[in-house]
Amino acid sequence: MNEVAEATGFAELWSSLADLGRDRTTGGYRRFAWTSADLACRDWFASQAADRGLTVEVDRNGNQWAWWLPDSGASSTDVGTEPRRGNALAIGSHLDSVPDGGAFDGPLGVISSLAAVDLLRARGWQPERPVVIANFADEEGARFGIACAGSRLLTGQLDAAKARSLRDGGGVRLADAMEAAGQDPDALGRDDERLADISEFVELHIEQGRWLIDHDAPVGVASSIWPHGRWRFDFTGEANHAGTTALDDRRDPMLTYANTVLSARKKARLGGTLATFGKVSVEPNGTNAIPSRVRAWLDSRAPDEAALDAVVEQIAAAARERAERDGTALEVVNESRTAIVEFDHGLRDKIRKTLTGVFGPVPQLPTGAGHDAGILAAELPTAMLFVRNPSGLSHTPAEHAETADCLTGVAALAEVVAQLAGVRPGTNRGSGA
Ligand code: GLV
Ligand code: MN
Ligand code: MN
Repeated sequence: MNEVAEATGFAELWSSLADLGRDRTTGGYRRFAWTSADLACRDWFASQAADRGLTVEVDRNGNQWAWWLPDSGASSTDVGTEPRRGNALAIGSHLDSVPDGGAFDGPLGVISSLAAVDLLRARGWQPERPVVIANFADEEGARFGIACAGSRLLTGQLDAAKARSLRDGGGVRLADAMEAAGQDPDALGRDDERLADISEFVELHIEQGRWLIDHDAPVGVASSIWPHGRWRFDFTGEANHAGTTALDDRRDPMLTYANTVLSARKKARLGGTLATFGKVSVEPNGTNAIPSRVRAWLDSRAPDEAALDAVVEQIAAAARERAERDGTALEVVNESRTAIVEFDHGLRDKIRKTLTGVFGPVPQLPTGAGHDAGILAAELPTAMLFVRNPSGLSHTPAEHAETADCLTGVAALAEVVAQLAGVRPGTNRGSGA
């Protein structure tokens, strides 16, 4: 892999992003959509692309695109010879993070894409059709609650008016956050023109589990994404004094919430699904006061749609029953839902064949994590490459992949780009503008 390390300057590329948005205390990343940390990452992307002579655009929904276009054969002084952008192969991922996220979830795909272009160019190769690197906006939904907001807006799977009115924990509207970042919120919405330019999307990502370590392979290919969604549970009760209110007189939403967490765990275990309460807000949030309201978010995922419906319904039913006993009230609101994704078989098989020829057997694995490639799958053939994660940890500062495996990932992505976009020795050999 020395060729990859040298041709791409992978280590320098990696460290050039490493400090942006990192919390010094936890070591985790807080790159929330449209915050200064996110904007620093977006500037980093634009400048990396510009350093490579790639043309950067921001689409109507805030996604960034860096174009590597085939050599048109025209001289730079020719007028009206702008190369065509249609029929592009898109690669890339995202740069935003969950609270205290790891360094790899998202950035590994973006950095590997830049590095794959470097590697192919170092070989003196040119694409036959456009290759475009995407940095999708707001993939994690950590700030405004809807994951993959950039790709959902692009495809019309998230309504523009609904998106504009989403608020973060401090009450800031998504529309205002975008506007402050120089992005016109009135332009949000399905972008047919952009979608028409893209023929396939291949996203490289760190694996968020232990499948590849157990199968002794540095790189794998995704088969499917479990259906998943987010539900907000609003438990309301009565605020009162912690020192003077008898237990029998309380209407404590924290009690209902706590029992709901236990029920969620049990229902998920029995149904072979996943259910997580990872975010909670308490009002008024005083140590010596019974809360008036507990707002908690359920993230649930399952191998099929019926199992997902069933587990969420069971958890909501258990919460309602408990609320009745506690004298509290409950409202459940579905904030987002993503259907099962079966990645395009033709594209997946082509990629596996290409990689097997170079790297040996390449396992195929399902995942419970959501990705922009899953959202775009509704519009065009998409695929994913996963890079081995020795601990399986993700959405934590401890997330890690070995450099050797990352370099294998870059080499694998470069093979895929070469195969799909017809990258081969061109007229403009060695162009590394
Ligand atoms: C994205 O990382 C997700 O929540 O699956
Ligand atoms: Mn993630
Ligand atoms: Mn991700």
